[in-house]
Amino acid sequence: MSEKWQQVDSYIVDKLVGSDDTLDAILQNNARAGLPAHDVAPNQGKLLALFAQMVGAKRILEIGTLGAYSTVWLARALPEGGEVVTLEADQHHAQVARQNIELAGLQSRIRLHQGPALDTLPALIGSGPFDMIFIDADKPNNPHYLQWALKLSRPGTLIIGDNVVRDGEVVNPASDDDRVQGVRSFFDLIAEEPRLSATALQTVGSKGWDGFLLARVL
Ligand code: SAH
Ligand code: DHB
Ligand code: MG
Repeated sequence: MSEKWQQVDSYIVDKLVGSDDTLDAILQNNARAGLPAHDVAPNQGKLLALFAQMVGAKRILEIGTLGAYSTVWLARALPEGGEVVTLEADQHHAQVARQNIELAGLQSRIRLHQGPALDTLPALIGSGPFDMIFIDADKPNNPHYLQWALKLSRPGTLIIGDNVVRDGEVVNPASDDDRVQGVRSFFDLIAEEPRLSATALQTVGSKGWDGFLLARVL
């Protein structure tokens, strides 16, 4: 990653995002527990929180918790009575996430379901539509997660997909990386879905070169 990208991310975080003992401790706990450093960057966490507030989200669904770093950003953006439902397949990640959620004092606002998301999503039908859905788990399943997101949404729901650029590999149709192919299928489905209005943005920074896809349910 470019040294300059890192410097600019630090500048942005210093100026606009600030540091927070709880969020810093969560990242430290995740690293100490051996979790992959796939948490969103601090300025991206703040972006997610701003989006949640801009859409007035009361109920948020997150697919892919890891150590709950993004989850805590989202939960803090909720009004009183709001809830983040977050899905995590890995037992160890879920255990670390529960400790971090407790550390942040957000047990009452975050419901974590452990298990492969495709097994836990069906139980969410009936728990009402979500106002915002953050898709950030195993990328080969993104096409399935998109179908679930549509089922669990209402007009106006904001769907966000993380890691949709992957060092630019997204434009390689011959990629043998099934994560890249998952993201490409995700783009294809969204492109042909009349219920969605979407765009995507490339990002550079402390997490390298990647991007977010944003889709609004019509
Ligand atoms: N949203 C987190 C990062 C998530 S990393 C943050 O920004 O802080 C992706 C996570 O998805 C990993 O913890 C991984 O274990 C989880 N995952 C992978 N496959 C999954 C599946 N089938 N169902 C649910 N979670 C899954
Ligand atoms: C990967 C997954 C992520 O969610 C992320 O933010 C970065 C990398 C990965 O699977 O490599
Ligand atoms: Mg991600």
